[in-house]
Amino acid sequence: MTILVTGGAGYIGSHTCIELVKAGYDIVVADNFVNSCMEAVVRTRKLCGVDFPFEEIDLCDYAATDALFDKYHIDAIIHFAGLKAVGESTRIPIEYYKNNLDSALSLLAAMKKHDVKNFIFSSSATVYGADAPVPYNEATPVSRSASSPYGNTKLMIEYILKDTVKAIPGFNAVLLRYFNPVGAHESGEIGEDPTGIPNNLMPYVAKVAVGKLDMVHIFGNDYPTPDGTCLRDYIHVVDLAKGHVAALKKIQQNCGLFVCNLGTGKGTSVLEMVKAFSKSCGHELPYEFAPRREGDLPAFWADPAFARDELGWVAEKGIQEMCDDVWHWQSKNPNGYK
Ligand code: NAD
Ligand code: UFG
Repeated sequence: MTILVTGGAGYIGSHTCIELVKAGYDIVVADNFVNSCMEAVVRTRKLCGVDFPFEEIDLCDYAATDALFDKYHIDAIIHFAGLKAVGESTRIPIEYYKNNLDSALSLLAAMKKHDVKNFIFSSSATVYGADAPVPYNEATPVSRSASSPYGNTKLMIEYILKDTVKAIPGFNAVLLRYFNPVGAHESGEIGEDPTGIPNNLMPYVAKVAVGKLDMVHIFGNDYPTPDGTCLRDYIHVVDLAKGHVAALKKIQQNCGLFVCNLGTGKGTSVLEMVKAFSKSCGHELPYEFAPRREGDLPAFWADPAFARDELGWVAEKGIQEMCDDVWHWQSKNPNGYK
């Protein structure tokens, strides 16, 4: 069975390629390197032990996407490709809507033409919105509008896929709602490599640990949480990658529409993360409390029961392992892939 992995040069995609090959799937990877580089593909191939085919294409290009399906026999798509920076999406919403919606639509058009009916989508916990009760459960309706244009692209693509399942007999769509992916491959060869100053907590902390940034700014210490800092459900990227293998097994059973959280079910505070990372890197990381960041929710985590019951998938790696693996990657590659 051959899987087209879009965005497979990126952070989650590269780790998923390894788990897919391990599980016996053939893969074809497509990426335009808007937020990644060839070195990630080279290293992922090495870790897979397979020179899998790679195509440098912009998936918004309908003709190029269609040509991919002419060139390879594809059985299923895992669609990671997309722009993902929440803050940036508020500044350039049109680019976000265009890239994320067009890439999904061009894939669906090519799939329709080539009679391919299995689509796994990287969605996000952000679709639940600010008012959903925690832990987030798949039975909770999604928000009418997410808190950012980025989040709205996830909501819209979810709707597109729901309508596609209704319209095309035999079409299967798995919507995977990720919580906060962190960590890196145990080899330290691949990991998260954001350009510029990281927006997300873990890569920021890692850059402080390696001496590239001065100190961690903890956004808000007056939230209604045990230590006053926000709680999130951090999930190791390798556990997340394995969740995609479980989703592929589900899709092979012709699941129709299948919506599922990928999280651990545990909330960890920002302060706890900084402390755990200090342990991993062997020195106390300097931090200061800063004002709240606009749009942040105090606390959310996954209800992981549905994934456990329906996919037979449970996240196994804990916070310390996540921090150890990020430190391994960051200390081995202080400049990322460069
Ligand atoms: P990433 O930026 O590392 O990977 C995305 C990849 O897609 C990049 O390699 C990028 O070059 C590629 N890409 C983007 N637009 C493209 C296009 N038009 N054509 C071809 N390639 C294109 O991001 P990631 O963290 O690996 O996230 C993967 C997916 O998971 C994204 O859809 C993201 O929105 C979603 N997601 C991520 C998180 C997270 O915190 N990392 C949380 C929830 C959901
Ligand atoms: N944080 C800091 N300092 C930093 C960076 C982050 O204190 O330098 C805090 C944030 O305020 C938040 C927590 O660390 O409380 C986690 O922040 P991230 O930016 O790492 O992650 P978010 O929970 O904000 O974002 C994640 C995903 C998005 C998704 C969003 C909502 O990265 O894809 O959850 O579900 F849209």
